This record gives sequence, C-alpha cells and structure tokens, in this order.
Amino acid sequence: MNAALEVSGLSVTQGGREVLRQIGFELPRGVFCGLIGANGAGKTTLLRAILGLLPSQGAIRVGGRIGYVPQKLQLEPDMPVRARDFVALGLDGHRFGLALPSRSRTQDVDAALHAAEAEGFANQRVGQLSGGQQQRVLIAYALVRSPDLLLLDEPLANLDIKAASEIVALLKRLCATRKVSVLLSAHDINLLPAMDRILYLADGKALCGTVQDVVRTEVLSRLYGYHIDVIRVHGRILVVAGGNGREHDHDPVHVSAIP
Ligand SMILES: Nc1ncnc2c1ncn2[C@@H]1O[C@H](COP(=O)(O)OP(=O)(O)O)[C@@H](O)[C@H]1O
Ligand SMILES: [Mg+2]
Repeated sequence: MNAALEVSGLSVTQGGREVLRQIGFELPRGVFCGLIGANGAGKTTLLRAILGLLPSQGAIRVGGRIGYVPQKLQLEPDMPVRARDFVALGLDGHRFGLALPSRSRTQDVDAALHAAEAEGFANQRVGQLSGGQQQRVLIAYALVRSPDLLLLDEPLANLDIKAASEIVALLKRLCATRKVSVLLSAHDINLLPAMDRILYLADGKALCGTVQDVVRTEVLSRLYGYHIDVIRVHGRILVVAGGNGREHDHDPVHVSAIP
C-alpha cells in the first residue's frame, strides 16, 4: 500500500445522526494534513473511526501502525509521573503483563523523547510542564511504537500561537525525517498555511486539497461563516481573520504566514 491512509465511502452515525456521509480521501506517506471543520463537524468522529473505535460503513485502509493523541487529554498538576514514565505507558497499552526487556524499552522511550524534542524535561513531572512541553510529551507517547500515521485531535487548542507554531514545526520535521503522516484536527485557521494538505469537514462531507486549493478567501470564508482574507504576497501566504471592519472589529487580527 503506497498511501498511509485510504478512506472511501465512509459513513458514521452518532446519536441517530449521520455525522459523516460517504466521505473519501487519501493521505500519502510523509504528509502533514490539517483536519479542519467547525465544532461538531465530525473531526473526532473521523479520527475514532480510523482507529476502529466506532461502527462505520465503507472502507478504511491504514498502511501501518497508528499513534493517537485524543482530544482534551488533561495531565493533572499533581500527577506523580515523570515525562519519560508517561511515554513508556505508550509501549504497554496493547500488551499488559508482557513487559519488554528493559534496555529496549529505555531505548524506545529515549528515541521517542528525542524525536519529540522532549529530552530536556524528560525527568520532570508531566503535570508541572508548560502546555507546549506537555504536548511534546504526548507526541512522544504517540511515537513510541514507531507509527506510520499520527492522529492528533486538537493538540493546539490550549496553546498560544508561538507554542502552537513550534508544535506544527516539530510535526513537519517528523513528516520529513521519519516519513510519518500526520492528521491533526484543528479549528484554528492560523496554522493552516504551514500544512501540506487540508482535509475539511462540513455537512457530513469531506474535501481534501492542497493549501493552494483550500487556503483561499472564498473557501475559508464559506467554511468558517465569516470573512477571512487570504493574501499572497512576495511568495508568502497571509491568513487574516476579522479584517472586514464589521462584526469582528473588536477581535484581534490573526495573521499567519509561510515563506
Ligand atoms: N457519543 C456520541 N453520542 C451521540 N452523539 C455524538 C457522540 N459523539 C459525537 N456525537 C455527535 O456527533 C457530531 C460530531 O461530533 P464530533 O466528531 O465530536 O465533532 P468535532 O470533533 O468536529 O467537534 C456532533 O453532532 C456530536 O454531537
Ligand atoms: Mg472533536
């Protein structure tokens, strides 16, 4: 199988409503794809269906192992667990009672911490780390079994723009160096231009495209339901929300750019 993920004719019903209706898309290997859509659009539903956690109709083919970071995973401030021990839990999830030899465990954990650029705080308690550091620990946790596909559900939701950009840059490097494919759900438009692909969900349907296809004034404005300007200047893309001088006057203007 060439692709990391192939989905066709996928339908999923939640609470009596067909949340996803006959959607199809393909994710090549080593690609960073943003999964976007409003709250309730079905992002979490899609990720859980890919994991095989929900009954669904249609076909889902995954070309390898999956690593997953669920939405709103809270690390309690008092949790007496060091980052490296938390990452090691990722090795045990599927085989309780069958401990690996400890040297290979340590190597796997160290490699995942290194890949997620989390070595610097590996011995600190997870609950004491900053939001961005915690996200790196969660990425290391998802990476520890060397997955081919990483599914991250709203990992940027509680981060400021700087921390979120750093996580996006880290994931881009992982796509390039380890040929991991990343599917990251988000409702924030700021970081879209940094992604290779965009998969967006609305009204039960999915649309998959390159940044050139999707990061456009008319497409994003329709998707988000308010005016968004996409400005291409000197080879960079700027996404400007709330710049129409009307109801969003009071909002801060968000700008993001890629070279
Ligand atoms: N366990 C559930 N039972 C019933 N309805 C659900 C359940 N989970 C999600 N839904 C509904 O499915 C729709 C999609 O939800 P979700 O996938 O969580 O959206 P998103 O992650 O994009 O915010 C929503 O209308 C939600 O209310
Ligand atoms: Mg969700």
